[in-house]
Amino acid sequence: MEDIAKIKQAFLKGLGGAKDRAALEALRVEYLGRKGKLTLILRSLGGMVLEEKKKIGPAAQALRKEFEELLSNHEAVAKEGASAPHAAIDLTAPGRRFSRGHLHPLTQVEDEIRRIFASMNFSVVEGPEVESEYYNFDALNIPAGHPARDMWDTFWISRGAKKSTENLLLRTHTSPVQIRYMEAHEPPFQIIVPGRTFRYEATDASHEINFDQLEGLVVGKSITLANFKFVVEAFFEKFFKGRKIEFRYRPSYFPFVEPGIEVDIKIAGGKWLEIMGAGMVHPRVFEYAHYNPHEWQGFAFGIGIDRLAMIKYRVPDIRLFYSGDLRFINQF
Ligand code: PHE
Repeated sequence: MEDIAKIKQAFLKGLGGAKDRAALEALRVEYLGRKGKLTLILRSLGGMVLEEKKKIGPAAQALRKEFEELLSNHEAVAKEGASAPHAAIDLTAPGRRFSRGHLHPLTQVEDEIRRIFASMNFSVVEGPEVESEYYNFDALNIPAGHPARDMWDTFWISRGAKKSTENLLLRTHTSPVQIRYMEAHEPPFQIIVPGRTFRYEATDASHEINFDQLEGLVVGKSITLANFKFVVEAFFEKFFKGRKIEFRYRPSYFPFVEPGIEVDIKIAGGKWLEIMGAGMVHPRVFEYAHYNPHEWQGFAFGIGIDRLAMIKYRVPDIRLFYSGDLRFINQF
């Protein structure tokens, strides 16, 4: 037992003086190696009388465990010390890049659209997302009970404490801004209205309950569909710069235009894609806006901004735009 106490003292002294991993390894060999001081005692246990063995055995075993722990602790510290110089500040290292984020792809597309129309002398106008039934439907020649209302199923807003006498809803299109703008301005003018719209419908790869639209409205004394054709084709040619585009105009129906048309485009010989509704402003819509339909005429159109973004960036599913998934967003 005296030997054991001495060994422990000597070991601790050696440990205090061991400055690096090599010294620690030497210490380990000196005490725990094959011929180490503690190892020899452990080996000699077999030749001891039972009483001695019972005392010395556990003490020697405990000491071995203690030595091993102390050595591995010191080794860990020595290791940290060895790598410390690398962790110091390197003043010559290049700076780290800040991750600043960027605009959402739909915002980028909307900005591009605004730029193109601004270059054709259009003003940008906005309207409320929570709209009244009057502006979203009635004033656009879609009275209550009209079957066309089924084309725009929507979310109605409870009037709550506001006690509004009007029915409120999330606008199903940007067309109500046509009326709002005409009520407050005199023609001639040319405007676009980008904005978020909402529809109560099942979502799939090409339908979302909210999406972005771009309304266009041009009113003057002698505006015709030929003007519309020119504007639309000029726009798409700029938007899809350098790609060959074909246009197709089909008759369609929207209560607020007459005649109503739909425009399809075909890019670089691909498939026909339905891209917008349009037409000549219906005389009744002018009446709602207090314009004289015998004096003024104009065209209106509505484009799905998400649809344009999907085509431009070849995005297969509209829901990706609203997923908040950075793996998608960071590709733009
Ligand atoms: N507001 C129509 C829609 O959302 C599109 C449209 C706008 C059609 C203007 C004609 C004129 O489907």
